[in-house]
Amino acid sequence: MSLTDLDKTYLAHTYNRFPAELVRAEGALLYDTGGKEYIDLGAGIAVSTFGAADPEWADAVSAQAHTLAHASNLYYTEPCVRLAQTLCERTGMKRVFFSNSGAEANECAVKCARRYAYRTYGDESHANIITLKHSFHGRTLATLAATGQSAFHTEFGPFPGGFLYADPDDPASLETLACTNGCAAVMFECVQGEGGVRTLSGEMISAIKTVCERHGLLMIVDEVQTGNGRTGTLYCYEQFGLSPDIVTTAKGLAGGLPLGATLFGERTAEVYTPGSHGSTFGGNPIACAGACSILSRIDDALLAGVRAKGAYIRAQLADTEVTGLGLMVGITVNRPAKEIADECLSRGLLVLTAKDKVRLLPPLNIPDEQLARGIQILKEVIAR
Ligand SMILES: Cc1ncc(COP(=O)(O)O)c(C=O)c1O
Repeated sequence: MSLTDLDKTYLAHTYNRFPAELVRAEGALLYDTGGKEYIDLGAGIAVSTFGAADPEWADAVSAQAHTLAHASNLYYTEPCVRLAQTLCERTGMKRVFFSNSGAEANECAVKCARRYAYRTYGDESHANIITLKHSFHGRTLATLAATGQSAFHTEFGPFPGGFLYADPDDPASLETLACTNGCAAVMFECVQGEGGVRTLSGEMISAIKTVCERHGLLMIVDEVQTGNGRTGTLYCYEQFGLSPDIVTTAKGLAGGLPLGATLFGERTAEVYTPGSHGSTFGGNPIACAGACSILSRIDDALLAGVRAKGAYIRAQLADTEVTGLGLMVGITVNRPAKEIADECLSRGLLVLTAKDKVRLLPPLNIPDEQLARGIQILKEVIAR
């Protein structure tokens, strides 16, 4: 049986895979079993920060694997501590909890907000979390409930309660929800990725700030997709002048290994106490060594490069509606986005979709020449 047939036989049918069996990577290029080359403008959905086989990252990861692969959270290990220190020093946040995915980072944020509210009010009267329509926060039951897209909810109920959805296109809806319900927090993505690469408006951001202050709500920013340099700053909230109480991230943080992080600010730093939360693999030395290597390279020069490459893409697609920030790009197209992605694949280009848009999330260091070739192919396919 071919690999494709074996996959179809033995894997749960949760993915509609593209017909490509990928075997290796070099920079922003990927190769399939037949040796066909693809320019990668998807980076494994914003995971492969510096490509899917970056030598510096691979050295850091393999050195750690040869030294200490795992120890459990019963003991101190250096990569985990150094990574938490780096994240705090670079964001001004105070403490970090490590998990293995974006969904888990968000679960940890929701639990933290609930406990904070319980300790503030002495009961569960302020346990609601306001999220936004078109949001995406993960696939666990609680993060699905947090996700403001009913399409993801069908046939999986009952869900954990306590999630309310404001409309990002109607900032006043936030105040109405906060006024009429006991709430703990507002949780949102500055650029809604899976929801169609929708950047929140200045009015919506202001409304979130105001409502959080007026009602004493925690601000939770989901930086799972937008974070780790993707939008041209280390974290996207920096571009909106926000001071979140909790930041969640994952995806590109460890550059290709599973790692989630929940960052706590001044108000939330002491909410968790021994035994109140945990993870077997979270903070694993190998994943954290990978993340230390990634973060050490997301410096001012790299971020300027991300902004420049993003500006290049927008200039090239000037005739098209393009959304998002930096190297998180949504492109409005006039036929099904999946059709365009399929045609790009056959021409050696990997792109993603988000709702009815084509979505680009290339490695942050994609060479300009490869980016130019990829965008040229995409333009030709879109124009067809
Ligand atoms: C904004 C956002 N939050 C959370 C998640 C869930 O992350 P994971 O798939 O690592 O659980 C995603 C995944 O696409 C995401 O884009």
